[in-house]
Amino acid sequence: MSQPAPRRRLLPLISHFGGRSRATCRFRCGDACFHEAPNTSGNEYFGDIYAGVLSRRNVLRAGAVGAGAAAVGVGAGGAFSPALAAPGGRGNPRLGFTSVAPNTIDDVVVPEGYDHRVVVRWGDPVLPGAPEFDFSRQTAEAQEKQFGYNCDYVAFVELERDRGLLWVNHEYTNENLMFAGYTDGNDADLEQIKIGMAAHGGSIVEIERVGRTGAWKLVTKGRRRYNRRITATTPMRLTGPAAGDPLLRTEADPKGTEVLGMLNNCAGGMTPWGTILTAEENFNQYFVGGESAPEEAKAALKRYGFATSGDTRAGSRRFDRVDERFDLSKHPNEANRFGYIVEIDPFDPDYKPRKRTALGRFKHEGANTRLTKDKRVAVYMGDDERFDYMYKFVSDKQYRKGSRRHNDTLLDSGTLYVAKLTGDSPASQIDGSGKLPRDGEFDGTGTWIKLCDSRKSYVEGFTVAEVLIHTRLAADAVGATKMDRPEDFEASPVTGKVYCALTNNTSRTPEQADEPNPRAANKFGHILEITERRNDAGATSFTWKVLLVCGDPEDESTYFAGYDKSKVVPISSPDNLTFDKRGNLWISTDGQPGTINCNDALHAVPVEGRHRGELKTFATVPVGAECCGPFITEDQKTVFIAPQHPGEDGVVGAPQSTWPDRGDFPRPSVVSIWHTRGKDVGV
Ligand code: FEO
Ligand code: CA
Ligand code: CA
Repeated sequence: MSQPAPRRRLLPLISHFGGRSRATCRFRCGDACFHEAPNTSGNEYFGDIYAGVLSRRNVLRAGAVGAGAAAVGVGAGGAFSPALAAPGGRGNPRLGFTSVAPNTIDDVVVPEGYDHRVVVRWGDPVLPGAPEFDFSRQTAEAQEKQFGYNCDYVAFVELERDRGLLWVNHEYTNENLMFAGYTDGNDADLEQIKIGMAAHGGSIVEIERVGRTGAWKLVTKGRRRYNRRITATTPMRLTGPAAGDPLLRTEADPKGTEVLGMLNNCAGGMTPWGTILTAEENFNQYFVGGESAPEEAKAALKRYGFATSGDTRAGSRRFDRVDERFDLSKHPNEANRFGYIVEIDPFDPDYKPRKRTALGRFKHEGANTRLTKDKRVAVYMGDDERFDYMYKFVSDKQYRKGSRRHNDTLLDSGTLYVAKLTGDSPASQIDGSGKLPRDGEFDGTGTWIKLCDSRKSYVEGFTVAEVLIHTRLAADAVGATKMDRPEDFEASPVTGKVYCALTNNTSRTPEQADEPNPRAANKFGHILEITERRNDAGATSFTWKVLLVCGDPEDESTYFAGYDKSKVVPISSPDNLTFDKRGNLWISTDGQPGTINCNDALHAVPVEGRHRGELKTFATVPVGAECCGPFITEDQKTVFIAPQHPGEDGVVGAPQSTWPDRGDFPRPSVVSIWHTRGKDVGV
């Protein structure tokens, strides 16, 4: 397809909102922050909560004996328990590198002694018959076989020595940087819209180690049996208690059990049985026609941020122009078929992805698992919207090591909970300034409130299916705690404590500040640390502390777990989390350019011992990018990151970023980072 000449500049460089650029707001979230927060419930701004998790590392190791065992025959190990704590995890872990200084360099920058290399870029051929990337001759057919756009969640599983599988989410597309002269979906030609749909979803690609280093590259020759593209049109199965419900039935799918595609997959996680969980986030933005949707559907549509008045087509990608199911005036139930956690088996190229309704429907940021003491599976999930909630699912059945068929049913029956948190200091001591209360900590207790299990709803007026499809409304009804945009969860492989990134919420007023969300106009975000009762992921109560109140350490409202603030680095808008095997927390950011005036970054911080709170910056990403991933390999020799939407405010021919190819436009890519002398990363 040829590219028309640029017509006009698409996205002027205008204000940042909550740290994000205008283009991110439009293309990723459908301008979520420019609208009123959809949570208009009367819930209090304080309460009680609870949790438990499995680190990606332990999940990964376990994964090799789960779904992937038959396929790859490698690995051993089991699900998380504190007894599996890695050597070196006790005592006073410390990070050994010198922080990368805050900067605005259009490149990935890593500490002295480290190096980095691009693994795979948007457009790289990944399926048989895929053509080489040719910007001026893009087609949907080619894009369906090439690596997708804007990489977010990254997971890696070793297949054999020096060869592995990389899973990558393709959250959304920046058409302004994919097509010269693009304005919006109303003016786009249909092929461009189809290319955009094909660039969404996810990729599974085989990668190989470069020499004896911690660098990895795409396997480009020979049989690549696992390589797969998932797109906005890939057939998927709706499973769990809500599958088949009338709210999920459409003209094209009268049974309500099959859906095409997944959208806006942000973060994710891995299960103990080796599958990928990938989270549909801002799915509302892909639909138009809400103004003409049936009146009875509008309350739920609004609660999920769908536009239900005005010109719903303005600025849209207009997927409805190639597939009318995205028009709510014609197919209002299609909206109910997005917003789920999707499970995919990377070891089975024929696996039909499952949308697991038992885990609820909301703007899922991610999903991270931990086994309960009695070997059931707990999944921790955030709903990334201002004033929305934190959730946990606990399966009915126990995980069975090596039983792929059994484990494939685990996420279809269980109990869904939402979190309520209560501070332990008087409300009068929480004034919204970030000033610590007299007991010296933002902390308290919490409960997991039951919403439903597979047989019964615990929310008055809601059936089980209604709880699982209109989950936000059900959670409103039980008084869940309104949080500052809950993003990724992750559990420490050493202690089992669970961490949640709360990225920011500039809409919180001083009156709405509470101990778990202690800062009004929370521009820089914070991180919560949760300890489940008896350290059991199946518990229904917990204690919590605020680990970090982010920002420039010179800002009085910040808090770094009590660590000397003259010895830490600035951080803003924490988003994705991971752990290394020593129990250090790694935090990637999405919003530093608009809040602390430097590129987004990957930071790391010990959370136990004398150095708890000593935050350092491990890497920074190119101009305009957020730092997605991160994933640390089990041998701790490589960190994968995914700089997403580099140069997002530019246009083709006038780019803000030219990373990594230095041409007329950037290419979202996945990067490996390693120590040049082979040391474990971070040490
Ligand atoms: Fe896609 Fe909540 O970040
Ligand atoms: Ca307190
Ligand atoms: Ca995210």
